[in-house]
Amino acid sequence: MRAFQIDESDGLHCDVVDVPTPARGDDEVLVDVQWSGVNYKDAMVAEAHSRVRRTPRLIGGVDAAGVVVDSDDPDLPAGTPVAVHGGVLGVARDGGFAERLTAPRAWISPLPAGLSPHDAMAMGTAGLAAMASVLALEDRGPLDGEVLVTGATGGVGSIAVSLLAARGHRPVASTGSPAAGEWLLARGATRVIGRDEVADRPDRVLGTPQWAGAVDCVGGATLASILRSLNYGAGVAASGLVAGPEIATTVYPFITRNVALLGIDVVEAPAGMRKRLWHELARTLATVDVTALVERTIGLGELSATLDDLRAGTVRGRVLVDPAAH
Ligand SMILES: NC(=O)c1ccc[n+]([C@@H]2O[C@H](COP(=O)([O-])OP(=O)(O)OC[C@H]3O[C@@H](n4cnc5c(N)ncnc54)[C@H](OP(=O)(O)O)[C@@H]3O)[C@@H](O)[C@H]2O)c1
Repeated sequence: MRAFQIDESDGLHCDVVDVPTPARGDDEVLVDVQWSGVNYKDAMVAEAHSRVRRTPRLIGGVDAAGVVVDSDDPDLPAGTPVAVHGGVLGVARDGGFAERLTAPRAWISPLPAGLSPHDAMAMGTAGLAAMASVLALEDRGPLDGEVLVTGATGGVGSIAVSLLAARGHRPVASTGSPAAGEWLLARGATRVIGRDEVADRPDRVLGTPQWAGAVDCVGGATLASILRSLNYGAGVAASGLVAGPEIATTVYPFITRNVALLGIDVVEAPAGMRKRLWHELARTLATVDVTALVERTIGLGELSATLDDLRAGTVRGRVLVDPAAH
C-alpha cells in the first residue's frame, strides 16, 4: 500500500513509499482509510529533530476515518464507519497517511449516524478540540456576550468559529491574517479583530472585561491577555501553543473576576468523552455546510509541501488527505 513516511534514520526524508499492509494485532482494528486530515501536530512530527515524534521512522497522520476491515470486537464488524485518533497515532506508531492502518480499539470511535468519514475528517482532531472547547465553555454557564476565538483561520480556530455560530453564540475571530476577514465572517464570525487587539491595557493589572468566553489554541502571551479580559465568571478553553508554551499571568483574574482556565485535551480523551464529542459534532454539523469548512483535498504526494505551508502559517481551515488519490 502507499503511505507517507517520515524517516530520520539518516537525515530527514518525507516521502510517499510502498509498504506492506499492516497486520492486525490482538485488540486492534484494521481500518480502510478513506480520509485523513492535516493537523499542526503532523507538521511538528515531520520536522527534523522533532520534539513530538518518538521514533526515527513512521507513517505520519494523527487522525483518519474510514471503515473497519477486521476486528475482534463484535461492536465493530467489518464495514462500520469509524474515526481513529489519539494515543500515539502518527507520533510513535504508524498513522493515518496511508491506505490502511491498524490501531488499538481504544483509539477507534464508531461514527454516529449521519456523520460520514469525510465529514468526520473535515473535523478531525482539530474539530474535536474545537468541540471540546465549546462544550467546556457551555458547561461553565450561559455564554451571554461575545466569545473570542484566537488563531481563527487555523484548524481549531476556524471550526470553533463555525461551531459557536451554529450553536447560537457570538464568536469574534482574532487573526494574524488580515486578508481572511471575509472568509471568517462567512464561517460565522460576528466580527474580526487583529491578533494585536487581544492585548488590552497592558499597563494595568487587568484589562477591560469583554469576553463571555474564549477558545484559545495560541497560548503564550495571547492566553495571558485573554485571562485579563474575561468577564466576571467567564472561562477560556486552552488547547494549543502555536505562540509558545509559557504563560506569564497573575492571580488577579482568578481571585477578583472568578475566571477559569479550562484545559482541553482530546488526544487522551476517554471513551465516554470521545462519544460525547462525536455526537455533539454530528448534531451541530447537521445545520452547517461541512464542505465549506474543507479548504482543500490533497493526495499523499502533496503532503510534504502542505506541512511546510502549515508551519509557515499560510494554511486556512482544514486540508483533507485522500490516500487513494494519485
Ligand atoms: N489539546 C488538544 O487536544 C489539541 C488538539 C488539536 C490541536 N491542538 C493544538 O492546537 C493548536 C492549533 O492547532 P491547529 O491544527 O488548529 O493549527 P493550525 O491550523 O496551524 O492553526 C493555528 C493558527 O494559529 C495562528 N498562529 C500561527 N502562528 C501564530 C503565532 N506565532 N502567534 C499567534 N497566532 C499564530 C494562525 O491563525 P491566524 O493567522 O488566524 O492568527 C494559525 O492558522 C496547536 O498547538 C495544536 O497542537 C491541541
